[in-house]
Amino acid sequence: MSRRPVWIDTDTGVDDALALLTALRLDNLDVVGVSAVCGNVPLDKSYRNARNVLFLGGREDIPVYPGAEKPMLLPLQTAENVHGVNGLGGVELPESPAPRETTKAWDAIYRCAKQYDGELELILLGPKTNVALALARYPSLSEYIKRIVFMGGANIGGNSTAVAEFNIYVDPHAAELIFRSGIPIVMCGLDVTEKAYLNHDEIQRIQSFDNPYGRFFRNSTKVTREFLARRGKDIFIPHDVCPILYEAMPNLFEGQIAGVHVETRGKITMGQTITDLYTDKKFEQRNVLVITNVDRQKFANILIALIENA
Ligand code: RIB
Ligand code: CA
Repeated sequence: MSRRPVWIDTDTGVDDALALLTALRLDNLDVVGVSAVCGNVPLDKSYRNARNVLFLGGREDIPVYPGAEKPMLLPLQTAENVHGVNGLGGVELPESPAPRETTKAWDAIYRCAKQYDGELELILLGPKTNVALALARYPSLSEYIKRIVFMGGANIGGNSTAVAEFNIYVDPHAAELIFRSGIPIVMCGLDVTEKAYLNHDEIQRIQSFDNPYGRFFRNSTKVTREFLARRGKDIFIPHDVCPILYEAMPNLFEGQIAGVHVETRGKITMGQTITDLYTDKKFEQRNVLVITNVDRQKFANILIALIENA
């Protein structure tokens, strides 16, 4: 089976960590690099978490590069209420022995993209700041990136505001720059990630696995599940696993090509992703596959099996 080179950019919270561990278990993905960005938690924590989660997965050999400490223009907003103060629901993982990379994420992404000469795919799990800065610094980067698959946005709704999803809301300017880059994009927004949930029985099953992945899932997701339970939801939503499983198993998902813009000035609508899916007023640039559906049971069964056999 050919393994496709992928780069993962992450604001290493609880679902990011599960997404990273999932990526390491997929035979057709070759994770060649990881970069950390501010988002769920400040950069120093997302960087440390990315290193230590790769160590937990036995892949401390994968380099992790530090990226942006703040969004392009806005002040940083974080989400410790969902992910815990340390970003991993309070779980303290063993420190990775890997050397600490000093190259900045945007420089490392460009270097790697040139090395893979157009075959590198980016999977973005947090605010899009690092890749936006890379595109601003290296305009030719868009010629070397095969595709961007990301978690973020929503056709309808939001979780940071009524109309904005967190990854876009934190850095809407970065997201708009990505959408305008001309690079083919696959957008896994809330429309699909909120359908790709684990139910009570599936959560209990994963928590019963007596292995490092199962124990990490049980301990790290407690804060997030309590956050959801306070809202009457006895589920866990692994938002960031969606782009990872899309990358490896696209047939689990359904989507439609669209044009997408990001609101970067609205007082109420800041961070909203506006798509032209449900109107005949189509945008000029239509380079986004907006994912709208998933086979939830297959998604859950695959995730459970990957964790059980870790
Ligand atoms: O809105 C959910 C997204 O925001 C996920 O990527 C989660 O990790 C947070 O970054
Ligand atoms: Ca994330």
